[in-house]
Amino acid sequence: MAKRDFITGEELDRGELDSLLARAAELKAGRREREGAGALAGRSVALVFERPSTRTRVSFEVGVAELGATPLILRGDELQLSRGESVGDTGRVLSRYLHAIAVRSGSHEAVVELAAGAEVPVINALTPLHHPCQALADLLTLREHFGTLEGLRVVYVGDGNNVARSLAILGRTAGVEVVVASPEGYSLEPGLAELSEDPRAAAEGADALYTDVWVSMGDEDAAERRRADLAPFQLNEELLALASERAIALHCLPAHPGEEITEGVLYGERSAVWDQAENRLHAQKALLELLVA
Ligand code: CP
Ligand code: NVA
Repeated sequence: MAKRDFITGEELDRGELDSLLARAAELKAGRREREGAGALAGRSVALVFERPSTRTRVSFEVGVAELGATPLILRGDELQLSRGESVGDTGRVLSRYLHAIAVRSGSHEAVVELAAGAEVPVINALTPLHHPCQALADLLTLREHFGTLEGLRVVYVGDGNNVARSLAILGRTAGVEVVVASPEGYSLEPGLAELSEDPRAAAEGADALYTDVWVSMGDEDAAERRRADLAPFQLNEELLALASERAIALHCLPAHPGEEITEGVLYGERSAVWDQAENRLHAQKALLELLVA
């Protein structure tokens, strides 16, 4: 059987995504009873990180271990990659030892190249273009909060970045209405979601308001300009008041309270951000079961 990668999130169809989210909910509910323990017994999964990470790294490491497999954390600068060994060769060789590779890289093309060389599933643990594992947790959080994804309107405000793109792609597969409101020059490319340049109009009737940092990894050189341009797109109390009465606030974290989100919203009673962070674990365990078990 051909190996399956998870790089943009488009690899999953609606039925597979629905089943994955249902399984993630089951793994979450059964965690105390060690649901899923042994699903990946005897396997090894590499977690390659070329960039910093708190949630992705820890949730993958714990998730792999809970499924009975051995996680190997590999930093880019420890591998021969850092001395010029090609990404393709790295994938070829790692495939001879391992059963899957999750990778966070500053180059989306490098992850595609790694997957082309690898004979085992490659999972994108964030590139500047996509963050599909985050979107799985986002959908799981919406599903558990509202009981269904059917008919939900999710409005992302801010930079049309990796997190916004993956939310749009996987949201579309799941049948969620995703709106991405960004200032001129920061929009997502057309065709993935409804686009807007007016955060207030977009927020009306939203079931969730979502934002992410204004300065992503790799964007540091333009930090000052980005903060100025994105300031009108802050997720604050005023914006939340325009959304549906039942609306929740989402953020992939790490957050910069006072920049893209106010402290009041981040720590307020409508924030689902901490569940969202936890759900990385459960969603990725379900993904590993699907791709590796
Ligand atoms: N949301 C997210 O991917 O967080 P980390 O960068 O800490 O992994
Ligand atoms: N957009 C952010 C997400 C971090 C989890 C970044 O790429 O830095």
